[in-house]
Amino acid sequence: MTLEDFKLNTKEEFAKAKQRAVSDPDSFWGEIASTFVWKTPFEKVVQYDWNDSHSTEWFCGGKLNITESCLDRHVETHPDKLALIWEPNEPQDTAVKLTYKELLDAVCKFANGLNNLGVTKGDRVCIYLPMVPELTIAVLACARIGAIHSVVFAGFSASALAARIQDSSCSILITADGAFRGGKTVPLKDIADDALKSCDSIKKCIVLQHTFESISWNNRLDVWWHDFIDGLSTSCTPQVMDAEDKLFILYTSGSTGKPKGMVHTCGGYMVYTAYSFMNVFQYQQDDIYWCTADIGWITGHSYMVYGPLLVGATSVHFEGVPSYPNWNRFWEICEKYKVNQFYTAPTAIRALAKHPTTHVTNHDLSSLKVLGSVGEPINEEAWHWYDENVGKSKVPIVDTWWQTETGGILISSLAGVTDQKPTFATLPLPGIQAALVDDKANVLMDTKAEGILTINYPWPSIARTIWGDHKRYQEVYFSAFPGRYFPGDGASRDENGNYRITGRVDDVVIVSGHNLGTAPIENAINEHAEVVESAVVGYPHDIKGNALMAYVILYGTSENPEILIQEIRDLISKTIGPIAKPDRILIVSGLPKTRSGKIMRRILRKIASNEMDQLGDISTLLNPEIVDEIKKALS
Ligand code: PRX
Repeated sequence: MTLEDFKLNTKEEFAKAKQRAVSDPDSFWGEIASTFVWKTPFEKVVQYDWNDSHSTEWFCGGKLNITESCLDRHVETHPDKLALIWEPNEPQDTAVKLTYKELLDAVCKFANGLNNLGVTKGDRVCIYLPMVPELTIAVLACARIGAIHSVVFAGFSASALAARIQDSSCSILITADGAFRGGKTVPLKDIADDALKSCDSIKKCIVLQHTFESISWNNRLDVWWHDFIDGLSTSCTPQVMDAEDKLFILYTSGSTGKPKGMVHTCGGYMVYTAYSFMNVFQYQQDDIYWCTADIGWITGHSYMVYGPLLVGATSVHFEGVPSYPNWNRFWEICEKYKVNQFYTAPTAIRALAKHPTTHVTNHDLSSLKVLGSVGEPINEEAWHWYDENVGKSKVPIVDTWWQTETGGILISSLAGVTDQKPTFATLPLPGIQAALVDDKANVLMDTKAEGILTINYPWPSIARTIWGDHKRYQEVYFSAFPGRYFPGDGASRDENGNYRITGRVDDVVIVSGHNLGTAPIENAINEHAEVVESAVVGYPHDIKGNALMAYVILYGTSENPEILIQEIRDLISKTIGPIAKPDRILIVSGLPKTRSGKIMRRILRKIASNEMDQLGDISTLLNPEIVDEIKKALS
């Protein structure tokens, strides 16, 4: 059997698969898993304990190397098929096209370089690169030798990078001289140098020459990428990994200050990303698939690198941004490569929709067969704009709900196979046992309901732990509703069982598709010498989905509030990255608090959202008078 045999082509096949995945998960997943390359077959499909040890294991006893299923097996049958089409930031620059054979050769070369440095199975390698082909090569080279990759999005600041390197004590950093982002360049090596001042664990820094700008050089630490791979062999024996050995760490924000290093393992992640990619996007062997994400996020890991390669797909990777050199860039690329599946984020769709539709209509988009959305709820207006202008009302849209923690898409329609419904992610995929609960953990039995989303049974690509902090993993995901996985999202369900994700129910705000914990931003603000306390909340924004507003209390009065606000913004940029800068910063003399001293964020959110008539009863607050003062300051 091949993976293709598990492609769901009709509603009936989908229903049958769902039923079988629940009644007999072992044979359902076992058969799918058997279509990949295993060195030693697995003995048991799944074992888990979500009450006590909070452990999940899939394909127990199986031995593999994921890169053999991603690369070697395709090289055996179709070495010259394109794996990757890389579109550079500047449209006039030459695209890079890599066949499966060329990608395997490049991965092996780099893997041999890492081997020569003494990097071995289980070592952590941090990758801080722009969206260049070498990012994919570095990721797969780590997987080839069993090193655990930790990709850090190249928009993060030096201290955010340092915190991630320190947390998992990475021994190698892979970076570039710089990155292009539209009309700007970002001095990545300078940022990395800054980070490395506080990272003793790093033994070598491999630097890709990309922007050709001058950089500072540390002879002890730094080595150029091109020198590093010079003369190395293009064959590298893959390290034998247990199905449950760690494949990668990817950090995500949480409700507290410290980022969570989500750990994904080899076997289950491989099986689920491939299965979900093939089915959600209905990928066919000659299709050209383009996901506009960055590999620094989970969407890039699962649906730009692993999922597509496992299925033998041809993917477009784009270095730039939708607005450069102008707002037709996405559609120009779709036309240029005759893209069949296009997967992007609502924030990009909303930004594109603000510009004349001629940007879209000037291009031939007739190759498109599937449109995808990910990262945050897609609002009705954006959904229809996408459908009508890009899809000409005849291309199915998949609204895919999932998380860094879930590793793969859990709720989505299957393009053109199951029904879509605007703003609804629709139905859980086979094997995903979703349930809505109320805040007292009662399961909502009516089909039509609104509550908190939970998942009641493991799926192969669930993150297994938080690096170095299994207790936090248990607390964040399993303590609110014992025995169930709690993703942190609210949802409603219609009479046909379709899910609509309503948003986070914790202190994480999704801004332009980026998951931002408010606590780390508050910590950054509080570092300012003039600041006593702060509270950051999200409020609706018509392009970004949500924007951030910071309420800040000072020790005294500021002589120059404008400079102070700029300093706070710079501090956030330096500590976390420019993506975390609030849209509005308001200096206040106090924050609404309960009598036990807890900040009433609900009230601050309502004020920021300009919903002054929905503040509720504020008389029980410790300091109700502050609410009027804040309202006044805002107006
Ligand atoms: O709140 C949900 C939202 O994004 C969160 C996960 O963020 P992250 O780990 O960064 O992964 C993003 C890419 C998978 C979720 O808890 N989210 C993601 N996709 C959707 C969504 N909200 C609504 N609809 C979606 N399709």
